[in-house]
Amino acid sequence: MAHHLLKILLVFISAVALSPLSFALSTNVGTGYLYPQFYDHSCPKAQEIVKSIVAKAYARDPRMAASLLRLHFHDCFVKGCDASILLDSSGTIVSEKRSNPNRDSMRGFEVIDEIKSALEKECPLTVSCADIVALAARDSTVMTGGPYWDVPLGRRDSLGASLSGSNNNIPAPNNTLPTIITKFKLQGLDLVDLVALSGSHTIGDSRCTSFRQRLYNQTGNGLPDGSLNPRYAAGLRTRCPRSGGDQNLFFLDLVSPFKFDNQYFKNIMARNGLLSSDEVLLTQSAGTMELVKKYAASNELFFDHFAKSIVKMGNISPLTGSRGEIRKNCRKVNHYK
Ligand code: HEM
Ligand SMILES: *[C@@H]1O[C@H](CO)[C@@H](O)[C@H](O)[C@H]1NC(C)=O
Ligand SMILES: *[C@@H]1O[C@H](CO)[C@@H](O)[C@H](O)[C@H]1NC(C)=O
Repeated sequence: MAHHLLKILLVFISAVALSPLSFALSTNVGTGYLYPQFYDHSCPKAQEIVKSIVAKAYARDPRMAASLLRLHFHDCFVKGCDASILLDSSGTIVSEKRSNPNRDSMRGFEVIDEIKSALEKECPLTVSCADIVALAARDSTVMTGGPYWDVPLGRRDSLGASLSGSNNNIPAPNNTLPTIITKFKLQGLDLVDLVALSGSHTIGDSRCTSFRQRLYNQTGNGLPDGSLNPRYAAGLRTRCPRSGGDQNLFFLDLVSPFKFDNQYFKNIMARNGLLSSDEVLLTQSAGTMELVKKYAASNELFFDHFAKSIVKMGNISPLTGSRGEIRKNCRKVNHYK
């Protein structure tokens, strides 16, 4: 009898030991429970479907690549990478879409919806919205010329959102560098992650309201007056006046706005970084300055660090196992309690 029980126990232990979960645990230290092959059996076409819909959206609107990359960032910094940013307000849920960093700014939700409905047809209730966002960010980076990385998968979706988390955890463009560093540190991200991931501003747009202070000597974060290249600043002032034009759009990288490359770092060194939070990386700490210079000098080093750092960002507090759920519709939880 005892022998029989022991045998059952051994079979059980070896089944667990050979499962993908323990594979991830033993070999993917640093990526937690997530691993790139998560959907290989349950939804083998998942990655292909995500990529094809991102490609279509990008063909319609090249800025969409930037918007999808930013979506992953704003998701991960609030309660972890759990698709909380995708929830609309309903019942007790107050949407993160209303927060200061997201309001009138975050986009790409319709693209995620389109991907989700294609995946629900292919393999119902299998691929999480959080994983869709992580894959879309990778595909967007590659499509614009940036580095490829295997996306660790297996995130599940949150049952709630956090408006206050969205307001407080995501750095603002006029934060001081110590504040920005602290906000990254709270997510387990270091100086390399901060500078490498800020390189995302090599693509996409900013509204006038996000950098106006800089144009009129009101920075408020310790940057000296006139820190922006005067010719660049004069050009910006024509479409970003002291008042009005809040929503007017400007390229974050004035030289190659649709290409994912290290031009962003070269811009910063020429005092052509658009946001105050870009410029402070060069001027307010020796550690970040060193990295800005290195990335400006080597696209390869930037790509290498970027890929590692975004995997790290994508691993912020994922919901795994039986926590959370796989949403059917990324905008709402499956069952309101
Ligand atoms: C370091 C702190 C950061 C600050 C203060 C910051 C701030 C901003 C701001 C103010 C905008 C313009 C939003 C608008 O006016 O509508 C923006 C755009 C953008 N950010 Fe960041 N960001 C930071 C880090 C990141 C990170 C880590 C990523 C990605 C991993 C990222 C990706 C983007 C992208 C791609 C855009 C353009 C979005 C579009 O065109 O739709 N940013 N960011
Ligand atoms: C900002 O300050 C600098 C230096 O103090 C000054 O030269 C410049 O005219 C000011 N610009 C504006 C737009 O106020
Ligand atoms: C930063 O920008 C926000 C939003 O425009 C503004 O309310 C706040 O006063 C600014 N902070 C500083 C220190 O200038």
